[in-house]
Amino acid sequence: MYSEKVMDHFMNPRNMGEIENASGVGLVGNPKCGDIMKIYLDIDEAGVIRDAKFRTFGCGAAVATSSISTEMIVGKTVQQAMEVTNKHVTEALDGLPPLKVHCSLLAEEAIRSALWDYAQKKGIVIDGLEKPCDDHDHHHHDHDHDDED
Ligand code: FES
Repeated sequence: MYSEKVMDHFMNPRNMGEIENASGVGLVGNPKCGDIMKIYLDIDEAGVIRDAKFRTFGCGAAVATSSISTEMIVGKTVQQAMEVTNKHVTEALDGLPPLKVHCSLLAEEAIRSALWDYAQKKGIVIDGLEKPCDDHDHHHHDHDHDDED
């Protein structure tokens, strides 16, 4: 069911832990399964991610995706990290069972939420980064138009 890479990252997670005084911290949860993922980023003055760590209270696929996605963003600039999507993460793991794809989404959301925290603290804007949604049961209706006229 799981690829060898998923098993490897699940059994030997990389970058597990916390970063003190992190440049950005992101916490996301999946309301469906209740799993929680927390990502810590250490970002240097040039905007390069020096270190990334995670704590995941969740399923094996969530642990494996946190592990590999932290590996994938270390050494990248903030802007490059924005390009790491759950698709890349899933591919890097040689795929995930269809039922587990939402778990990889958690990693992408956690990274973005940590980047958002970083941007807030620095008072900067990261291209393409939107405010993370705290409440996943609520959907934004920014584009709701009641075409009444
Ligand atoms: Fe919840 Fe995988 S089952 S993140």
